[in-house]
Amino acid sequence: MTNLKFDVLIIGSGLAGMTLALHLAEKKKVGLITKRDLLEGSSSYAQGGIAAVLDTSDSIEEHIHDTLVAGAGLCNEDTTRFIVENSKDAIDWLVDLGVPFTRDDSHQTGFHLTREGGHSHRRIIHAADATGAAVTSTLGQKIKAHPNITLLEDYIAIDLITSRKLGLEGKRCFGVYALDKIGDHVITIAANQTILASGGAGKVYLYTTNPDTATGDGIAMGWRAGCRVGNMEFIQFHPTCLYHPHSKSFLISEAVRGEGGILRLPDGTRFMPHHDERAELAPRDVVARAIDFEMKKHGLDCVYLDISYKPASFIQEHFPNIYAHCLELGIDITQQPIPVVPAAHYTCGGLVTDLKGRTDVEGLYAVGEVACTGLHGANRLASNSLLECMIIGKAAASDILASKPVKLPAMPDWDDSQVTDPDEEVVISHNWDELRRAMWDYVGIVRTNKRLERALNRIKLLSEEINEFYSNFHITNDLIELRNLVQTAELIVRSALLRKESRGLHFSRDYPETLPQASETVLTPTE
Ligand code: FAD
Ligand code: SIN
Repeated sequence: MTNLKFDVLIIGSGLAGMTLALHLAEKKKVGLITKRDLLEGSSSYAQGGIAAVLDTSDSIEEHIHDTLVAGAGLCNEDTTRFIVENSKDAIDWLVDLGVPFTRDDSHQTGFHLTREGGHSHRRIIHAADATGAAVTSTLGQKIKAHPNITLLEDYIAIDLITSRKLGLEGKRCFGVYALDKIGDHVITIAANQTILASGGAGKVYLYTTNPDTATGDGIAMGWRAGCRVGNMEFIQFHPTCLYHPHSKSFLISEAVRGEGGILRLPDGTRFMPHHDERAELAPRDVVARAIDFEMKKHGLDCVYLDISYKPASFIQEHFPNIYAHCLELGIDITQQPIPVVPAAHYTCGGLVTDLKGRTDVEGLYAVGEVACTGLHGANRLASNSLLECMIIGKAAASDILASKPVKLPAMPDWDDSQVTDPDEEVVISHNWDELRRAMWDYVGIVRTNKRLERALNRIKLLSEEINEFYSNFHITNDLIELRNLVQTAELIVRSALLRKESRGLHFSRDYPETLPQASETVLTPTE
């Protein structure tokens, strides 16, 4: 395949990208590129569910209040209200499309609603413990069947094509250069509007719940194209990732705690009530920090999450995938506690956007985990993320449908005439490991100025080496991702160094207090 042109180009096929594609495709020719398979991305791994005000005993005000409390004073209230007020519509849309949410005919909604940390009500609609897979497989079928959507799997976006790159006036995006991974060549994709729906950056840490796709590509591409980033220091660590040598990145859903799971030390002692009156159902920043504290205090490799006191049939019905996965590894969760550790889970910050997903660059939108709309503040409330993907996705689609097309300029082909094949691939894998370990050791749950500065020094050296590699050698998937990871890591550390307080997910031993006035950390790229 050579160069391509669409009305709208979407980069990423998670819930954000799929939502946009489906809302646009009746009126626009949509290109949807994704660097692996259609269904590979965080959205498909989502377990707990989607938060929404569905029960008549619940209210929009209470969902907003819970979001603001979890966000530790930093959520944008207008954004929060907009998203929560539209939550029911978004769920109705999924139900109409046929998503098989778990039913409970005895409940007024007809659906089973579960509970997670920080929520004052049962308001999480879910499909057992594999909500993401149920949603993306349903939407994925519609995407594949739609005549106006061209799906390009195994295409990885490298960089945005902007007016600056083309030497033109203004600050506009006209498309992207993307590597066709199977054909091993770079193509130009032109579009009136380009949407970054490329997810978060969990892979910047050694231990993460995220799939391999979460390498911060959209954040780094947007930054290079001239977009501001906000609140990048707020990386959410999920308290309960399965701790097992043969299981990579497997989450034990917060819904396990929502349905009564208790956190214990190896000797069986329950510890959360000593840390917070909300105990296991405190917001994630509090629970992850408490686990980190107990692990360091007692020199532990993990703590334990115990739901085994509930009837086996209840556990098997509510958590069939977690039950089966653990059993395969020899852990029967109906009989014994589950070994768990915190792991990097969610990028609360990202490219700064408005409520229509618009970035600082005309024609460029960012939707989903790649963006910072202000909903998550200093700590995301559980199950608010999938909701944000759908509501901002729909708003961005409406904005695009209302806009006039522009005349696209001529765009040069990707020039790789000056590069050769890499002499030592090991440089990439080594730098990848070094970066992720440095971020884990120095930019984790508890931070200090000294650790952050140490991380920044490492990142600068790695960055020089990776950029040199990028300039001299043929591009590959791993090199593209590593370049983006190191860029994203730098933005996280620079943002963390700017915050002279502890708030939400950012805890600094040098500044343990929370300042009376909450302010966002916004970084602006230099021209
Ligand atoms: P993703 O779903 O991550 O999709 C990103 C897409 O972009 C992928 O298709 C990827 O391949 C593609 N991509 C990335 N870079 C490029 C590139 N350079 N070129 C081309 N394509 C690219 N949230 C909730 O609200 N409820 C939950 O229950 C929940 N559970 C979770 C469980 C797990 C294990 C994880 C990891 C996250 C969970 N979250 C949950 C968070 C939520 O799943 C994510 O925040 C959300 O799915 C992000 O959606 P997205 O569309 O922005 O990105
Ligand atoms: C979980 O099921 O614990 C994940 C929910 C989320 O990340 O919102």
